[in-house]
Amino acid sequence: MNVGIDLIHFSTSDYYLGLDVFAEEKNIDVDKFYIGIGQEKMSIAPPDEDVVSLAAKAAAPILEQIDKDSITAILFATESGVDQSKSAGVFLHGLLNLSSRCRVVEFKHACYSGAAALQMATMMVRANPKEKVLVIAADIAKYDVDTSGEATQGCGAVAMLITESPRIIAIEPGSGYHTEDVMDFWRPNQRKTALVDGKYSTKVYLHSLKQAWQHFTEETGKTFSDINHFCYHIPFTKMAEKAHQTLAKVAGVKLTDEEFQAQTLPSQVYNRIVGNSYSASLFVGFCSLLDNLKENLSERRISFFSYGSGCVAEFFTGLMQPGYEKVLMTTSHTRQIEQREPLTYAQYLAFYHEVEDDVENIEFEVNNKGPYRLAGIRDHKRYYQAV
Ligand code: CAA
Repeated sequence: MNVGIDLIHFSTSDYYLGLDVFAEEKNIDVDKFYIGIGQEKMSIAPPDEDVVSLAAKAAAPILEQIDKDSITAILFATESGVDQSKSAGVFLHGLLNLSSRCRVVEFKHACYSGAAALQMATMMVRANPKEKVLVIAADIAKYDVDTSGEATQGCGAVAMLITESPRIIAIEPGSGYHTEDVMDFWRPNQRKTALVDGKYSTKVYLHSLKQAWQHFTEETGKTFSDINHFCYHIPFTKMAEKAHQTLAKVAGVKLTDEEFQAQTLPSQVYNRIVGNSYSASLFVGFCSLLDNLKENLSERRISFFSYGSGCVAEFFTGLMQPGYEKVLMTTSHTRQIEQREPLTYAQYLAFYHEVEDDVENIEFEVNNKGPYRLAGIRDHKRYYQAV
C-alpha cells in the first residue's frame, strides 16, 4: 500500500523585510546576505498573525477539496507554539470547524518536528488506511535584534494531507536518523526569541547529515544515484548547498556545476525569499521544487533531510506519483509571496520585537489581511477571527 502526501499547500505572512534594507540599517555589505548566506527577504508576521492563523491559511485550501469531516487526526508541528498546555492544533481545529471525531496533538523538536509528524502520520495510515491525517508544520522564526541569527528569520506554515494512494508523493519505508544532546540552538520557556551558537549549529547540522545518511544507506541499501532531487532543511539557502556538497563528498560522487544546481536550486526558490520557517522549511523547499522545476517529476525519487537543532535529524525518501502536477497549488503560493508588502526596518521592529503579547488583555490592530487572524487576548485566552 502506498502512503504519503495527497495534497500540500503552504502559507506565509503578508509582509517582508528585504535584506537590502536590513544591510543598509546595519551597515553591512548586502552580498553577505545575497551571496554569503543566500537569502534575499524574510517574511515578517504582524502581531495579529501567529502559527495558528498561518496554519489555517495553509490548511483551508486543502479542506475545500475534501470532506473535512473525514480528517481523523491533526498533528501540529511547531517550535513557536502559542500555549504551554493547549495544542496549537486544537485552536486550529476550532477555527476550521473540524469534526469532534478527530485527535489533535502538538509535536516539538525545533525544526525536526514537521518530519516527525509526517512520519507518524504515514505510520497511522499504514496501520489503518481509513485514517486521513492533517499534518501542519508552522513556525515564526525569531532571534534577538543584532545577533547573528537576525538575518535568518522568517515565517511560514505547510499543511499536508496524509492518506493511502496519495496523489503527490508516496513516502518510502526506511529512513536514517541521528540524535545527540547538544546545545546549538534552544529557547528557554521564558523567551520569545531563540538562542543560537550559529557557527557550531552549522557544524552539527552537517555532522548529523553524515550520520543520518550512513544509517539510511545501511537501512535501505539505496545510494546517492538512486535519488533524483534532494530537499534539505533550509535555515538559509547556503546551508542546503553546503549540505549537498557534503553529501556528494561522503557518497563519493563528483557532480558538475550543472548537475549540482539542477539537484538543489529549484527547492530553494521560495526559501530564499521567505526565510527560515523552522519545522516548515523542509516542506516549503519541497513545494518550491514542485512549483519551480520545469521537468516532470513522475516516478522520480525525492530525498528529505530534516535537521532540528538540539539535535534530531532524519533522512528519508519518497516516490513522486504520476499526475501529481494536476493537484499542485502553485498559483496560491506565488500569489501570496508576490503580494507581500515591504516593511521599513522600524516597521519590522514594531511588528516582530516590540509587541507585549504576553498580557491578560489585548486587542490587536488589523494588519493581517486574512483569511484568518489572531484578534486578541481576553482573560489570557486567545481569540481568532475568520476575515
Ligand atoms: N560577500 C559574499 N560573502 C560574504 C560576504 C560578502 N560581503 N561577507 C561574508 N560573506 C560570507 C562568509 O564568508 C560566510 O561564508 P561561509 O559560511 O561559506 O564561510 C557567510 O557569508 C556568512 O558569514 P559569517 O560566517 O561571517 O556570518 P555570521 O557569523 O554573521 O552568521 C550564521 C552566519 C552563524 C549561520 C548565522 O546566520 C546564524 O547564526 N544563523 C542562525 C543559526 C542557523 O541558521 N544555523 C543553521 C544550522 S542549525 C539549523 O538548521 C536549525 C535552524 O533552523 C536554526
